[in-house]
Amino acid sequence: MNNSEKFWEKGYSDAKVWTMGGPSVEVFEIEQFLPRNSTVIDIGCGEGRNTLFLALRGHKVTALELSSNAVKKLRSIADRYSLNIDVIERRIEDFVPDENYDLVMAHSSLHFVTKDVWIPLLREMRQRTKPGGFHNFTSIIGIPRHPVPHECRHANSFDRGDLDSQYADWQILRSDFYAKWDCHPGIPTHVHAVEKFLSRKTNSVERFTLRKVDLSNSDSLPLILFDSIPLGADATAVKSMGVRPRHVNRIEMPGWNMTSPMELTGNYVVEDWIFGKYGLQFTQSILTGKYEYFTPPVSLRNARETLINEARRSSLT
Ligand SMILES: C[S@@+](CC[C@H](N)C(=O)[O-])C[C@H]1O[C@@H](n2cnc3c(N)ncnc32)[C@H](O)[C@@H]1O
Repeated sequence: MNNSEKFWEKGYSDAKVWTMGGPSVEVFEIEQFLPRNSTVIDIGCGEGRNTLFLALRGHKVTALELSSNAVKKLRSIADRYSLNIDVIERRIEDFVPDENYDLVMAHSSLHFVTKDVWIPLLREMRQRTKPGGFHNFTSIIGIPRHPVPHECRHANSFDRGDLDSQYADWQILRSDFYAKWDCHPGIPTHVHAVEKFLSRKTNSVERFTLRKVDLSNSDSLPLILFDSIPLGADATAVKSMGVRPRHVNRIEMPGWNMTSPMELTGNYVVEDWIFGKYGLQFTQSILTGKYEYFTPPVSLRNARETLINEARRSSLT
């Protein structure tokens, strides 16, 4: 077991902790466009924050993971809630897909394998994606200002633009690039440069009308303020520093409890406060991430866009 594998095993062994937090915002957004009872695969699923969210919405999820503690934890939650999840304990390198999918996702896991593994795997997955299906990936990319931290050293197997070139014949909905200040239970604040990628397999009959909304605006947050606000700060305390965003990208997920992985109850609220090239992410009103956007921050909207509020300045004052 290498150091990063030991790190994950340790974090996942604690039944009271969500090592990676709650479901990803873009998974919440994509879910609105999935057909009922979609078939999903979550590659390197960890404790299954995204797997569980999608299974709770009625989708059939295959969850692939090498950590036996994560697999045990996810299986016990899935059993407790009778969710349609097939948890496979296996390395990505050894996985041979045998189904067709509506959504293929890998959040912060593909960068642990080399290009000669992920490129052929995603090629096969593109073949196995149903028309209109999605691929969604989050990957760490080392850049001079933010090299890949030692504690999560990986194969450095992603370069910016690799995925865009692999998906040239698909509709690329997002190819975002940003730096994120992040923390997880047990490790201090660290910074990653991240690429978030979302594409859709289109067919000639239907062109997807999903709208990508640019959330940039003219308000900015002085760098000195951005640097000084610590992760863990309370939203009210940040507001009292005079920080007022023009755009708030807010999602609410009923049935998610951040303090107890075994209890899927409660209401999970994530707000991204956006200030031009900077962003602050609050989870349950606590600052859990800070962003410097190298590409404009975006959101995906449809007719149900009222679910995700923007320009909520008035309610924040
Ligand atoms: C940063 S965590 C992300 C977990 C999950 N996708 C999430 O977003 O919460 C990376 C995960 O990839 C898994 N992983 C790393 N290398 C892997 C491999 N070669 N095969 C399968 N899983 C792997 C780790 O065990 C860990 O759970």
